[in-house]
Amino acid sequence: MAESVFCDGFLWGGATAANQYEGAWDVDGKGVSIPDICTGGSATVSKRITPEFEEGTLYPSHEAVDFYHHYEEDIALFAEMGFKVFRMSVNWSRIFPTGMEEEPNEAGLAFYDRVFDCCRAHGIEPLVTISHYEMPYALVERCNGWEGRECIEHFMRYARSLLDRFNGKVKYWLTFNEINTGTRVPGMSSSLGTIKGYTGARSDLPDLPAVRFQALHHQFVASAEVVCYAHAAYPDVLVGNMALFAPMYPLTCDPHDMLLSQSEMHMLNWFCSDVQVRGSYPGYIKRYFSENGIEIAMEPQDEQILREGTVDFFTFSYYMSCCVSADPAKQADKTGGNVFGGVRNPFLKASEWGWQVDPEGLRWSLNEIWDRYQLPIMIVENGLGAKDVVEEDGSIHDQYRIDYLRSHIQQMEEAVKDGVNLIGYTPWGCIDLVSASTGEMRKRYGFIYVDKHDDGTGTLARSRKDSFYWYKKVIESKGADLS
Ligand code: BG6
Repeated sequence: MAESVFCDGFLWGGATAANQYEGAWDVDGKGVSIPDICTGGSATVSKRITPEFEEGTLYPSHEAVDFYHHYEEDIALFAEMGFKVFRMSVNWSRIFPTGMEEEPNEAGLAFYDRVFDCCRAHGIEPLVTISHYEMPYALVERCNGWEGRECIEHFMRYARSLLDRFNGKVKYWLTFNEINTGTRVPGMSSSLGTIKGYTGARSDLPDLPAVRFQALHHQFVASAEVVCYAHAAYPDVLVGNMALFAPMYPLTCDPHDMLLSQSEMHMLNWFCSDVQVRGSYPGYIKRYFSENGIEIAMEPQDEQILREGTVDFFTFSYYMSCCVSADPAKQADKTGGNVFGGVRNPFLKASEWGWQVDPEGLRWSLNEIWDRYQLPIMIVENGLGAKDVVEEDGSIHDQYRIDYLRSHIQQMEEAVKDGVNLIGYTPWGCIDLVSASTGEMRKRYGFIYVDKHDDGTGTLARSRKDSFYWYKKVIESKGADLS
């Protein structure tokens, strides 16, 4: 077996998000969040937002896979695999049911106390996303979510209550999950929550690019304020960004394709990270704004807050890549993807959901990110959504998942050898949970199977897949044994 190339203390683990995992949507004082009014869907049928609940309609977040009542069992299983870190998120409406209360909901905070204590008892470091594709629905009604500047204030009350309460229990925080999805889908990374392809939590409002970028500006300021607050109050705490990263390759070496690739990379992959890491708006986005008549309303102090609130480490999700082409005749050959689809790459195969599998693209991405920012990096989502078959004896032979993860870890190794400072890896949906894009259960990512189905039935029993034993060995060997 080769030697491990990963650093001492490398954070091996797995990732989840509250609205796709916790369930208990109305328990212990929790308010309604956007995913709670979001129906199920499928690869071909979009999810819908129904501000009024529909009798007989399934709302997947309501029970999800009930981490709320299974957290001890789940964390023990993570510990059995050897997790050093567990990425999860806090559900905003569990802490502030409408987002507008003055004081946090004690029962909500107490739940996360129990979860973090349980992690620590198993020697697992929590890595906590403050906002992962959800917000209290009342804030959407009040100020169209992040379009309203007052959302910053509500968010800061929430974020401060977490940092204050969990000081000493949580060292690593992320502000907004995949913040850059907001460049394409309005409010996606924050208020909209999980409705890929949907036009807005308030469907009566049109998608105006100016609104989308204004909402992002408010998130940038909020994120930077969290960093400033954490640094001042809790010097041991580290705050990271979280971006969706998807390489946009030029389909050919035609210079027009090269330029298009660069501008798509700027807009989709770099813009938000440039603001969060470098602390100011880059020139290319200012040009885009002025050519498209977009004016961002800023308060006088905003530039300073952005400058001072730059993140301590860089995190991103990586699932797939796609191509771009300047030739209209070639643009029709599309591939799906994780929010950012594009032109199909003839060299890559795709998952059943149309996401192109590209391990080498992960090495390329890691190098690009490191060259640009020189910050410690964690890959906080990666994985293959696939249907699993439970055999008669209960076993699940998910070799396809092992193959996907192995090929990506091999490319992480190459990137580390290239000199990238990679400090952690948390594959997505380490336990089966609700799919964000489709609301399905059949699109599974887990090492741990959960008996829960698209129609809402199932016992919620947990069981170990083949990949569970494989990943345990990977962690035990510090990534050296991928066989
Ligand atoms: C990421 C999200 O975009 O992709 C997760 O941060 C999501 O919330 C994951 O679950 C996988 O996407 P999906 O649609 O297969 O669940």
